[in-house]
Amino acid sequence: MKVVAINGSPRKDGNTAILLRTVFAELERQGIECELIQLSGQTIGGCTACGACVTRKDGRCALADDGFNACLAKLVAADGIILGSPVYSAGVTAQIKAFIDRAAMVLAANKGLLRHKVGAAVVAARRGGAISAFDTLCHFLHSKEMFLVGSTYWNMVYGRNIGEVARDDEGMANMRNLGENMAWLLKKLHT
Ligand SMILES: Cc1cc2nc3c(=O)[nH]c(=O)nc-3n(C[C@H](O)[C@H](O)[C@H](O)COP(=O)(O)O)c2cc1C
Repeated sequence: MKVVAINGSPRKDGNTAILLRTVFAELERQGIECELIQLSGQTIGGCTACGACVTRKDGRCALADDGFNACLAKLVAADGIILGSPVYSAGVTAQIKAFIDRAAMVLAANKGLLRHKVGAAVVAARRGGAISAFDTLCHFLHSKEMFLVGSTYWNMVYGRNIGEVARDDEGMANMRNLGENMAWLLKKLHT
């Protein structure tokens, strides 16, 4: 079993990465392989509404290869998917929104590629807009026939500078519990 996470932060190994690795720690403790994809440093642009994915139906985005198709292929091959983003202007980052928009189109044209996978969303925030960002990530997962995993609160943790999220005890406990719940569901589905 494998879980792939996408970190939508342009800040590599920042707070969102810390949250995703905290969820990973519990998954790995239970024998589940994990891979982190960081969009930082990548140049995945937004959907241009060319419609080629709808015509071709080949499970790929027709835009010049900027790494998007490789990322999407990893999600399609995974049993579980976690989307993570810091809050930017009360929403998700442009980087993960670009990824979501393109993936949503390709997956609408090629139905069922993420069907019955286990999904979760996590958000890092300084102060405001976390629920809105969380909703955007969940809406994508939900509309692709995935089973969303919850925890004891919505999956948002507070901190500004790198490492500050570790001081949000309730938020970090929520991440660990999320990993536990994800592992539970993955095992129910696959063993
Ligand atoms: C351009 C920009 C916009 C931001 N907008 C918000 C915001 O609207 N609300 C908020 O709570 N934090 C906001 N933040 C703070 C980040 O969400 C916060 O620092 C987060 O922990 C960063 O996570 P990262 O290290 O994974 O990038 C913003 C940060 C930047 C750089």
